[in-house]
Parts: sequence; C-alpha cells; structure tokens
Amino acid sequence: MHLAIVLPLLAAVATTALSPNTTAPGIIPGTTGHYVAAGGHKYYFLESQPAASPIGTVLLFHGFPDFSYAWRYQVPFLTSLGYRVIAPDLLGYANTDAPCDITQYALKKMSTDMTELLDQIAPGEKIILGAHDWGAGLAYNFATWFPDYLKAFFTISVPYNRPWLGPSLEWADMLDLVQNGTYPTMGYQLQWRELAVNRNFTTRDQTRSFLNTGFGGLTPEGGAGLSPHDGLHYDVMPLLENQTLVSAEDFEVYVDKISQKGLAGGFNWYRTRRMNWEDELPLAKKGPFKFKTPYLFIASEQDTFMPPELYNNTGSYFEDWSIETIAAAHWSMWEKPSEVNAVIRKWLTNL
Ligand SMILES: *[C@@H]1O[C@H](CO)[C@@H](O)[C@H](O)[C@H]1NC(C)=O
Ligand SMILES: *[C@@H]1O[C@H](CO)[C@@H](O)[C@H](O)[C@H]1NC(C)=O
Ligand SMILES: *[C@@H]1O[C@H](CO)[C@@H](O)[C@H](O)[C@H]1NC(C)=O
Ligand SMILES: *[C@@H]1O[C@H](CO)[C@@H](O)[C@H](O)[C@H]1NC(C)=O
Ligand SMILES: *[C@@H]1O[C@H](CO)[C@@H](O)[C@H](O)[C@H]1NC(C)=O
Repeated sequence: MHLAIVLPLLAAVATTALSPNTTAPGIIPGTTGHYVAAGGHKYYFLESQPAASPIGTVLLFHGFPDFSYAWRYQVPFLTSLGYRVIAPDLLGYANTDAPCDITQYALKKMSTDMTELLDQIAPGEKIILGAHDWGAGLAYNFATWFPDYLKAFFTISVPYNRPWLGPSLEWADMLDLVQNGTYPTMGYQLQWRELAVNRNFTTRDQTRSFLNTGFGGLTPEGGAGLSPHDGLHYDVMPLLENQTLVSAEDFEVYVDKISQKGLAGGFNWYRTRRMNWEDELPLAKKGPFKFKTPYLFIASEQDTFMPPELYNNTGSYFEDWSIETIAAAHWSMWEKPSEVNAVIRKWLTNL
C-alpha cells in the first residue's frame, strides 16, 4: 500500500530529473544544463546552440580532476563558429553520477555510455570530438570502438600510446613501467591508483588543496606540491600559495563542483588500466592498429607529465593526423585559450 503511493512519485521525480529538455542555464555562459540516462548512470551535460542551424556537433571530454567547466573558453567559441556544443560532466564528477564500482570506469564501458548519450541527443550524427587529459584517454578508446560516431577528433595534452598502454602485448603493471624507465613521468599514477588516497581527499578543504596543487600553486621559493615522478608531496601542499592558472572566482567554481562528488570517482580512472588492457587485447592481437578518423593532437609544450618522447611516434597510430603545439603547461585551455581556439579553428576549417 505504501509502495503503491511512493513508487509513482519516485517515477515522476526520475523522469523530470532525466529530461534532456530543460532550459536551466549551465555554468558556462550561453549553455543550458541537462540530464540524460546512459550506461545505467545519470549523466549531466552542458549544451550550447548557435543562432542559426548548426553546421555540426562538437562533443567535449574533460580530464582529471575537472568537469564540463574545463571548456569555459571553447564552448562559446565553437558555438560562434556555428557548432552545437555538448560538454558532459564525465563519470565521477560534479553533477554526473560517481559510482563506487570501479568497473564502471573502464574506458570501453564509459565509451559505450557516451554512445548511449549521443544516441539520445545527436542520433545518427557524425560528431567532432575534443578531449583533454583523461578525457583524451576516453576519446582514444571511443575512436577505437565507435569510429562510426565520429567525423574527426582532437585531443589536448595527453598523446596516444598503444591501446593497452604498454610496450608489448604482455600485461605490464605501471609499477614496472615506471621503474624500468618506460614511463618515468607516470610515477604519480602509482600514488593515485591506491584506494587509500581517497580518504586524504574527502573534505572541501582537502579538495581545495588538491586543486590548488594540481593547478600549479607554488611555495614562496617556487617549489611544486606535485611531481610527475612520485605524485603529491603532502608536506609541501600546505605551504603552497594560491594558484594563478584560473581566476579566484573560477577557482571557487572548481572547489564547489569538484567537492560535490569528491576525488574518489576521478581517481577511479587511474584504477582500470588492467581492465582497459583486457578489453583491448583482442584488438591488439590482430596486429598494428591505426585510427582512420582524422585527428589533431594539441601538445602542451611545458607539460612535464607529457614530455615529447611520449608523442614522437604518434604518426604510426594515425592515418590522417596533424600536430600543433601550444606554449603552455598541462591546462592549456585555461592558460592560453585564444591560442587553443585558433588551432582548433584552423583544423576545423581544413577538415
Ligand atoms: C526533447 O525535444 C525534442 C525536440 O522537441 C523531442 O524530439 C524529444 O522527444 C524531447 N525529449 C524528451 C525526453 O522529452
Ligand atoms: C620495461 O618492462 C616492460 C614490461 O615488462 C618491458 O616490456 C619493457 O621492454 C621494459 N623496458 C625496459 C627499457 O627495460
Ligand atoms: C595520505 O596522506 C598522508 C599524509 O597526511 C600520507 O602520509 C599518505 O601517504 C597519504 N596516502 C596516500 C595513499 O597518498
Ligand atoms: C588565497 O585564496 C583564498 C581563497 O581560496 C583567499 O581567501 C586568500 O585571500 C587568497 N590569498 C591570497 C594571498 O590571495
Ligand atoms: C622517442 O623517444 C624515446 C625516448 O627518447 C626514444 O627511445 C625513441 O626511440 C623515440 N622514438 C622515435 C620514433 O623517435
């Protein structure tokens, strides 16, 4: 009897919450915010529509620890070029679900989620995909499994390595690859994949400290709180001055939204490497894999986590590609927005 009363109410709430047709403003000017069910999760995305009928759709994947706001300066720009722009909060972040089940963060699973999102909001369309940081990892996977959804794609800061992210078909744990010098700048991942790191970042102040560190806050002597080789330096983090990458207002937006879900969901992206390898192994066994979808890599020249050695072989994985370099560190979309926009525009024009 109670159930009979309660269930219809729950159903009504769920339907309203998942309607992709709300007109609530999104956090980036000119956008609206929407929810959609995909892959068994509730995803949130920002949408921006050009004044005239769109010339295409651009889908944007942010990285770690980030959310749709990563594209603060790209969404209005791409809209002004005539594109419809969609920027989801990816799994684990901000207004989107952050399940505890780590398998949900396997890149192939999240790629499938994105096809379900697109099937609802851009059915049958070949879209342009853009991605930064871990969003790039997802984009490479999406382009591997679902190329039919894509007209072209670009990634920022994180280059493509082999599908299984190791030097051979054999499983190689990241610990071995860091220790034997294959990926020396990925030592921080060993710290972030530990479940124990979750409980160091549960409060708003801890999230603030992580973001300040990740956005490049320095000690008065110029020291960093984060190293590509061994991750967070917990003794240095409290000594950092305020980051200067984003404005104080934008930083508060980040603290508000990232502390909403905390960092555990984002850290889960570092914990599915073995699953990603298993998912991609059958494909890798078929021989050298090459992407056919047109591709642009936007390298960040001063990104110490992603030195040029990691993208000196990109050409062997892409049939149709180009590279542009931005004189910026990891967060080039915030540091050099107009330069990033200019290379995207040039590439779009020549597609
Ligand atoms: C959203 O609006 C579009 C266009 O008006 C319509 O085709 C679609 O069915 C609507 N979706 C929902 C879930 O209401
Ligand atoms: C590092 O270890 C991996 C995995 O065992 C191996 O494939 C690779 O050849 C090693 N690289 C070096 C430089 O020793
Ligand atoms: C958690 O923080 C403490 C310092 O407060 C540090 O010693 C420890 O290594 C951290 N744990 C992880 C997994 O990073
Ligand atoms: C650093 O940022 C905090 C808020 O995050 C602010 O209260 C404080 O005044 C800032 N310090 C400086 C030196 O700007
Ligand atoms: C890329 O750089 C690495 C490290 O310096 C080097 O071992 C490798 O041979 C280079 N590959 C190419 C294709 O230049």
